[in-house]
Amino acid sequence: MKNKIYTFDEALNLNEKLYHSLYRNHINPGLYSIYKILGFNKMDIKSAYGLEIILKNGKIVLDFTSGIGVLGLGHNHERIIEVEKKCHDLNIIDIQKFGINKLQAVLAYNLSKLLPDPLDTSFFTVSGAEAVEAGIKLITRAQPRYKKYFISFDEDYHGKTHGALSFTNSEKFSRGFHVGINRENVITLEPGNINSLIKVVNEHSIDKNKNKIAGLIIEPIQGQTLGLLPNNYLKEVVRFCKKNNILVLIDEIKVGMGRTGKLFSFSHENVIPDIVTISKALGGGKRAIGAMVTSAKLSKLAYGKRKDSALHSTTFSGLGTSCAVAIEALNIISENYFLDDVQAKGDYLLQELQKLKTKYPKAIVEVKGKGLYLGVIFNFIPYEKKIRRLNIPFINDMQVALMGSIVRALYRDYNILTHFTPPRPSMLVVMPPLVVTKEQINQFVDALDDLLGKGLLRLFSKFLIGNVKEIL
Ligand SMILES: Cc1ncc(COP(=O)(O)O)c(C=O)c1O
Repeated sequence: MKNKIYTFDEALNLNEKLYHSLYRNHINPGLYSIYKILGFNKMDIKSAYGLEIILKNGKIVLDFTSGIGVLGLGHNHERIIEVEKKCHDLNIIDIQKFGINKLQAVLAYNLSKLLPDPLDTSFFTVSGAEAVEAGIKLITRAQPRYKKYFISFDEDYHGKTHGALSFTNSEKFSRGFHVGINRENVITLEPGNINSLIKVVNEHSIDKNKNKIAGLIIEPIQGQTLGLLPNNYLKEVVRFCKKNNILVLIDEIKVGMGRTGKLFSFSHENVIPDIVTISKALGGGKRAIGAMVTSAKLSKLAYGKRKDSALHSTTFSGLGTSCAVAIEALNIISENYFLDDVQAKGDYLLQELQKLKTKYPKAIVEVKGKGLYLGVIFNFIPYEKKIRRLNIPFINDMQVALMGSIVRALYRDYNILTHFTPPRPSMLVVMPPLVVTKEQINQFVDALDDLLGKGLLRLFSKFLIGNVKEIL
């Protein structure tokens, strides 16, 4: 029958080959081929809990990617599941488009208690980019019309919707698109140098007290490159912007919610932005939710008149169960010792990786990061030279191919899921869920040790030869 569609039960029982072809034909053949090269096509998943992804063939894979930051609490955290179940058992209201929603109100209150004053007013979204959009729109409304310019930073990532894309400078994701904010109105600076910010603001000044810059949007740690800002830089930026009436949006979507050992990573610098965006781990690994949090004063400036109160909105903002889960996620992360434990485990992982660097000084050049967001940077140059001598014509990005072979081997041979980002192909991103145990950290470090001990050249050659067909 031509129009047959699958039921949920049928979907659950589809065999691997069939759902792979559905994905390839109906979602994204390009991504499918990348997953195949990385070996992730052999991942027929039965269930997932904590760091463990349990495959139908009985293998248990440790997830050291945290779903790029979503899985702060790991997969299916028991307290999150309990809240979900309770919501279903009680038939709580998910969609309430009219009237005062209790769980939204409580979530907003909790965020106001966990963030520094005066950040006390929330707008809920479904995704990170939407939270960024809400922040940009708030800045535009709250600032006078002559303030038409924004400042963003090289290699920052803020999402891929048209507005957020105007500030995403990583990987040229905006190529070929008409971005939301005119390109000429976004000034992109290299992060780390306060003088370049001062210079740009001076160049856009109208008189001694006025300039044309409306807002500045920044990641406290650059999420595509694990770019750490110099000490005090964020503090200087916030202080300078406050003095010059430029609103600061700090994007905590990737590194907030405890990832760096503090609930929000800007707290390491003791600064208070005008706007903060949060998402990913806020949903407890189960729900899609984000938030743009600002002060009552700014919110009033932007949308204070009753006629403007629905000027910015989104249909799925603050679903009941999403709010319930976010309330629980915030409670878990802010409970006694949770963050101390994240810090201790981060320190331990860093120390173990540093030991590997000492053991394999030719292969590893640097280990860096904060809390449980770490990166191992490899020196591929000697290997590149040797492999180029093999004259394999099909490799256009050798570093991506070499890191791909490490990620594939960690998955296929050691049952550990890791990832890397194209802007830093020589860096293996090590980002386990915050609930990782010491044993799981040891398992990861032992795997990397074993892999390095066997020699990278052999691994690279095997990968490249084995994937000739795929890479072509
Ligand atoms: C720092 C940061 N901002 C914004 C976003 C966009 O979030 P989303 O993909 O949910 O739209 C991301 C996503 O990776 C991010 O890391």
